[in-house]
Amino acid sequence: MVRPISNDTSSDIHQENDAPLEFIGDIDSSLEIPDGADILIVSKDQSYLTHGIHKFPAKFFPELPRYLIQRYSEVNDTILDPMCGSGTTILEAALCRRKSIGIDIDSIARLITHVKTTPIDPAILENIITSLTQQIQKYSLSSEYHPEIPVFNYRDNWFRPHVLSELCIIRDCIESLPEVHDVYSVHEWSDIRDFFRIAMSSIIRDVSNADPHCTRTVLRKKVIKKIDPGDTISKFLVALFEQAKAMKDLWSVYSSMKNWEVSIPEGTATNTGLTDASVDLVVTSPPYINAVDYPRTHQLEMYWLGFLGDESLSTVKRKYIGTETVYKREYSELSVSGLDSLDPVLKEIFKQDPRRSFITYMFFRDMETQLRETMRVLKPGGRYCIAIGSNLIRGVQVKSHEILSEISTVNVGFELERTFFSKLIRHFIRIPRKERMLGEWILILKKPS
Ligand SMILES: C[S@@+](CC[C@H](N)C(=O)[O-])C[C@H]1O[C@@H](n2cnc3c(N)ncnc32)[C@H](O)[C@@H]1O
Repeated sequence: MVRPISNDTSSDIHQENDAPLEFIGDIDSSLEIPDGADILIVSKDQSYLTHGIHKFPAKFFPELPRYLIQRYSEVNDTILDPMCGSGTTILEAALCRRKSIGIDIDSIARLITHVKTTPIDPAILENIITSLTQQIQKYSLSSEYHPEIPVFNYRDNWFRPHVLSELCIIRDCIESLPEVHDVYSVHEWSDIRDFFRIAMSSIIRDVSNADPHCTRTVLRKKVIKKIDPGDTISKFLVALFEQAKAMKDLWSVYSSMKNWEVSIPEGTATNTGLTDASVDLVVTSPPYINAVDYPRTHQLEMYWLGFLGDESLSTVKRKYIGTETVYKREYSELSVSGLDSLDPVLKEIFKQDPRRSFITYMFFRDMETQLRETMRVLKPGGRYCIAIGSNLIRGVQVKSHEILSEISTVNVGFELERTFFSKLIRHFIRIPRKERMLGEWILILKKPS
């Protein structure tokens, strides 16, 4: 059942007259959410265990993937999120005793997912944190220490000089941590270092001059942040202790479990590298068209963690589903898909903005490739649960869920089992019934048996 979407000028708006099905915290997995239902999940805790170790745009609230995993898979099944972002599905799948596979093209996303799902013994961590903090203190007081400040575009606009030196101190202390040999029987040393890299990454945006209210990393003349000398190191230490506490909680859950199997292989959503028919359930949320530019959002973290290598930001950007980095020659003419739900939309957008029309076309073309890849790796009878928002592009409503439904059933061969609308989920905030709300559609697709 397809629901009406308002013609308002803002995107992702769904106006509803009936009360949604409301869930406070967990959704009982024995419950079948009716086709066409509106639901509202009032999340009990979006940051429990390691879910909150790093900000990430358009994160899942844990209750949704948890419900889908429990509803559509069994213990020991294999769950894949091919656009795993910060790894919400991946952690939830491991906690539900499933084998969990996370793929993402974004190196920051992969690192967050890895750290979030790699339990570390708190006793070991505590000792290393003590030596790291001592080292940081030593470097900060030393007049002999002259760090090598990384070179990247507009560096001195993004960061003040004292912030650059403090970030260098943190980075150098992490990278030169003396390896503690007795941890090898329990952990990989690189896992421990990654834990600290994420603590550093989590404060980079905060200590930069970038506007804190904008998802994209942008400088605004009017935004002047107060970042005094010493603040960067203090913020890092606060983040580190919070992250260590989260890890302690994860370790205690992990220690009580028998199986914990997480992998984050190299690959992309359209070319996962996984074996045919090897996955029981796929749960994901693709990027919104035209909404979050992930490489740009993570550019400062990527510079500091050395993730950009020799590639320019625009080369990296073109590889993402939903990319806005397109060439003029590509959109001089209208590109059409042959889909009834998409082509009128492409034509309408093209009249006003050929570039945006092509970006929209590319998004659905790449999603079709992704759906085919998921069809290949899923076992017969397996489900593909996709959470997708609608967009308003140049005033034209792009009903992504309807378009994806057509692509997945007509072109790729999935059965559309049910669709429901999940309204904006807020942490213990009740939203008035008639208020217009953000939200996304959940499509439950099934690979024929
Ligand atoms: C909406 S986010 C996922 C958020 C995730 N559900 C969470 O809870 O954090 C979409 C993700 O798709 C990823 N992505 C975009 N293009 C991709 C591709 N070609 N292959 C794999 N991941 C891709 C982005 O890097 C981003 O992390």
